[in-house]
Amino acid sequence: MSDKIIIAIDGFSSCGKSTLAKALAAQLEYVFIDTGAMYRAIALYFLRNHISFQDEKAIANALLHIQLHFEHNPNTLKSDMFLNGENVELRIREMQVSSKVSEVAAIPAVRDFAVAQQQVMGQHKGIVMDGRDIGTVVFPQAELKIFVTADPAIRANRRFKELQATDPTISMEAVAENLAHRDHIDSTREHSPLKQAEDAMVLDNSHLDRAAQFEIALNWAKERIVSAS
Ligand code: DC
Repeated sequence: MSDKIIIAIDGFSSCGKSTLAKALAAQLEYVFIDTGAMYRAIALYFLRNHISFQDEKAIANALLHIQLHFEHNPNTLKSDMFLNGENVELRIREMQVSSKVSEVAAIPAVRDFAVAQQQVMGQHKGIVMDGRDIGTVVFPQAELKIFVTADPAIRANRRFKELQATDPTISMEAVAENLAHRDHIDSTREHSPLKQAEDAMVLDNSHLDRAAQFEIALNWAKERIVSAS
């Protein structure tokens, strides 16, 4: 019997989900998948190729020409997102993509495309996947579901600091607006909106540092791994 489990981490933007997911995966020697990066890479392709978000035919055709994969980066020790063989890890974090990605992630054909790939990635378990619909749609049978939340002002401040490193012209106001806009679209869209799975463990990290939140989540994971084996 396999003692590996699936850990699904969902929550609002800039809640520290990826940081937590990465740390858990490293500790447990599991694969980490940042599903937001996949939606971002698709959005980048649409923007570059002027695909209208309303044109279902153009979208279906564009998806046939998109190949996504993750590759380990030995310099950063993280996985980089590749779009048709190009490393787009930095591009997909830029404001131009961030301001459009929620619209792209709300398109049903885009979600079907991404979810099918995510389900294949998790078929052998031993995976930590972060996103918005992992515990509800991608892996409703995940052994551990964590729903991460944090105060919106604290999230905006964290994102601002992150973005400032690459774009010193960015304003706090623009970051807060973008976050609020994304939260709204992500949680009100018709197709698999962001919502807490009924059986998810809630982790509010507004006043927790990384180590404290990691400790809590790791204990949950250990419990679930024991009961799965
Ligand atoms: O986690 P992130 O900010 O990189 O996600 C980018 C966008 O993709 C965000 O608008 C939410 C959306 N997303 C989603 O709809 N479903 C996922 N599983 C992951 C991200």
